[in-house]
Amino acid sequence: VLDIRKLYGQSGKFTYDPGFTSTASCDSAITYIDGDEGVLLHRGYPIGQLAEHSSFMEVSYLLLNGELPNQDELANFTRTITRHTMVHEQLTKFYSGFRRDAHPMAVMCGVVGALSAFYHDSTDIADPQNRTISSHRLIAKIPTIAAMAYKYSVGQPFLYPRNDLSYTGNFLRMTFGVPAEEYEVIPEVERAMDRIFILHADHEQNASTSTVRLAGSSGANPFACIAAGIACLWGPAHGGANEAALNMLREIGTPDKIPHYIERAKDKNDPFRLMGFGHRVYKNYDPRATVMQKTVREVFDALKVNDPLFETALRLEEIALNDPYFIEKKLFPNVDFYSGIILSAIGFPTTMFTVLFALARTVGWVAQWNEMISDPGQKIGRPRQLYTGPTQRDYIPLDQR
Ligand code: ACO
Repeated sequence: VLDIRKLYGQSGKFTYDPGFTSTASCDSAITYIDGDEGVLLHRGYPIGQLAEHSSFMEVSYLLLNGELPNQDELANFTRTITRHTMVHEQLTKFYSGFRRDAHPMAVMCGVVGALSAFYHDSTDIADPQNRTISSHRLIAKIPTIAAMAYKYSVGQPFLYPRNDLSYTGNFLRMTFGVPAEEYEVIPEVERAMDRIFILHADHEQNASTSTVRLAGSSGANPFACIAAGIACLWGPAHGGANEAALNMLREIGTPDKIPHYIERAKDKNDPFRLMGFGHRVYKNYDPRATVMQKTVREVFDALKVNDPLFETALRLEEIALNDPYFIEKKLFPNVDFYSGIILSAIGFPTTMFTVLFALARTVGWVAQWNEMISDPGQKIGRPRQLYTGPTQRDYIPLDQR
C-alpha cells in the first residue's frame, strides 16, 4: 500500500508541473525575459541595444561578470580567450573516428564531452580558478571545435586558429578558409555573424540551460555539462528549429503554397508545425527575430545575393500574424525563423545551424553554470514524479509466469 506522505513528504503535497510551465528552478541575475511584452535583457541591457552596439566578446564578458567591461578589461578578456583557441593536437584525431556523413551536432556532443579527458587539470570545480580557466577554455575552443566539425564533414583539412583575427572573424576563416590561401573576412558578414552570436548568447532557463544546470548540480565538470547542453539543444523543438525552419521554407518554396501549409499547421490531426514560430515564453514578437529580420537584408546587400525564400518567409509571417489561429495562440516568429536564411546566404549548410547556436550559447551555459556553482546554497537538482505504476506486489518466479 502506498503511503503518499512517505513518498512526497510529511505534508503529502508537491507541485506537479510537466514541462515546467510555471516552475522556477533557480534564482538568477543574468537574463530577464518578459514574454508578454517581448522584452529580453542581459544584466539589464536590452538585447536590441547589445545587438546594435556591442560585440560578442563584450556580451560574453557581461554575461560572465555582470557588468560591461571598460577598454582594458575587454582587451584583457579578449586576449585571454584568444590564448585558449587552440585545441590539444590529439583532439584532432578524435574526428577521424566519426563517419564522414555524421551530423555535426553528433560530432559536437562527442568532442565537447571529450574535452574533460584533455583538460582534466581544470575539472576540480571546488577551486574558483579552475572554474574560470574551464570557462575560458570552453568559450575559446568551441569555435575551433565547431569549424573542425564542418571541415571534417566536407573532407577539408583543419585550419589552426589565427589569433590576430576577431573571435568571429577567426571562426569564419577556420570554417571557410583553405590552407595556403588568404581568406578575406568580409566586415559586414563578420558583423552579422557576431550579432547572430549575441542574439543566441543566453536565454535564461530554457531546456538546454536547465540541462547544463541539472548536470552541473551533481558536481559534474563543466565540459561534461556543456556536452549535455549541446545534446539537449539538438532537438527540433529547441536549437534544431533553425535547421527545421529553413527546410520548411524550402519545402514551401513559393508564396502561393503558403496557405496550404498554414492550414496544415492548424490541423490537429497533422503533426506539422510552423517551424520558427511560437515560443514557451514569448507570447509576443521575439525581440531577437526583429534584429534577425533586419540582418537578412544587410547580409544580402554585403554579399550581393537575394534568396527568394526571404520573400516567402516575410509573406508567411504576414499571413500567419493575421490568421485567427496564430493570433489566438499568440504564435509569433522566434529567433530561428530568419536565422537560417542568413546562415545559408553566408554559406553554412543547414546541418551546421544548430552547431552555430551551440557555439554562441556556450557563453550563456558557462555563465549560468558558474552562477549556480558559486551559490553556497546550491543543491543537487532532483525533481519528484507523480507515480502511476502498480502498487506493491510479490515477485512471481519465472516458471510460474
Ligand atoms: N505551429 C502551429 N501550432 C503551434 C505552433 C507552431 N509552430 N507552436 C505551438 N502551436 C500550438 C500547439 O499546437 C498548441 O495548440 P493547442 O493549444 O490547440 O494544443 C498551442 O499552440 C501551444 O503549443 P505548445 O506546444 O503547448 O506550447 P509550448 O510552449 O510547449 O511549445 C514550442 C513551444 C516548442 C517552441 C512550440 O511553439 C513549437 O513547437 N514551435 C516550433 C518549433 C520552434 O520554432 N522551436 C524554437 C523555439 S525557440 C528556441 O528554442 C531558440
